[in-house]
Amino acid sequence: MSATSSSGILRPLLFAIILLVGFVALFLMYFKPARSWLLGPLEEATLAPTAKNVIAEPSRTVLLLWLWPFGAHFNLDVCSSMFSINSCHLTADRNLYNLSDAVIFHHRDIRSDMSNLPPLPRPFFQKWIWMNLESPTHTTKIPGLNNLFNLTLNYRLDADIEVPYGSLIQTTEKEFVVPSKSKMICWIVSNWNPQHKRSKYYHELKNHVEIHVYGSAFGKRISDMDFSPTIASCKFYLSFENSVHKDYITEKLYNPLAMGSVPIVLGPSRKNYENFVPGDAFIHVDDFPSPKEMAAHLLLLDKNEEMYRQYFRWRKYFTVRKTQFWAEHMCRACEYIRTHKEYKVCNNLDSWYWG
Ligand SMILES: *[C@@H]1O[C@H](CO)[C@@H](O)[C@H](O)[C@H]1NC(C)=O
Ligand SMILES: *[C@@H]1O[C@H](CO)[C@@H](O)[C@H](O)[C@H]1NC(C)=O
Repeated sequence: MSATSSSGILRPLLFAIILLVGFVALFLMYFKPARSWLLGPLEEATLAPTAKNVIAEPSRTVLLLWLWPFGAHFNLDVCSSMFSINSCHLTADRNLYNLSDAVIFHHRDIRSDMSNLPPLPRPFFQKWIWMNLESPTHTTKIPGLNNLFNLTLNYRLDADIEVPYGSLIQTTEKEFVVPSKSKMICWIVSNWNPQHKRSKYYHELKNHVEIHVYGSAFGKRISDMDFSPTIASCKFYLSFENSVHKDYITEKLYNPLAMGSVPIVLGPSRKNYENFVPGDAFIHVDDFPSPKEMAAHLLLLDKNEEMYRQYFRWRKYFTVRKTQFWAEHMCRACEYIRTHKEYKVCNNLDSWYWG
């Protein structure tokens, strides 16, 4: 008796429950409540602080500077403020060696017997970066570096971490005004080597046109304060590199470009320069069969303001950004490490750089 009566009550009850569940399901389908209405306050209050941090702020990349470049110290806490590169921790604290994602070495500060490199075993995840901004001519080869590094940082376009001496950045700035000129050709030189190509070119060129020379090479040192105004006051500036190598295009080009003088370049080929700056922003020594013809062209430009102004056409679209030694190199390296987790070995440094 009791069994039949209880099942008699259960059946309509079950039916009612199914109806109710169906009704609620339909209601939720038609009036999709916002996520926050269902889980919101709970989720915000209990999950947010920790979960959000883990997702939005992955663990920081640690880059250890093993040797201060040329012994000069600089501020290491600049990646975020100066270059908008976040989540990087730059340090020179060697106690952090074991947990550093990468260690960076400035070539010119490595002893020839490599005795100032880390003696400890290298953690399996850690990458060693070879950093050098000098040309091969001014970089002494050190035996034993061939299989030591994982990545190269250099001005060369084919370096793993490519950091040129400067770059042109798109701009919407107002019209550029060419600074007023009081001299035709200028050159500021600190190191003089009479055997070098650039010294020979200068000697020939000055037979045909006046060149204002400054710098310790000529016993006419120029103060930091006078540096920029001096270059700006010259129509042309001799951007002669100290040695000729692929992609070796330094501040000698970017200074006059930034200050409103037309660079006359001596370095790699015109085509190579055109990888970095527009072809009508500079004059190349190879554009003319000899310094005499170059001088004739410069004298023509000196008399024709309209022709001269053509060398500044690019200023309408671009502005010069010079690379910040050494903070920028460090920050770019850290960014690279943070975004490139792949295994990499540099096993041909000698042939790659000194070839
Ligand atoms: C780093 O790890 C090595 C072993 O891989 C250990 O011998 C050394 O003491 C550690 N150094 C520091 C500073 O923790
Ligand atoms: C870095 O290079 C060395 C050899 O130079 C190699 O033994 C090591 O496994 C490499 N590490 C990574 C993370 O690529």
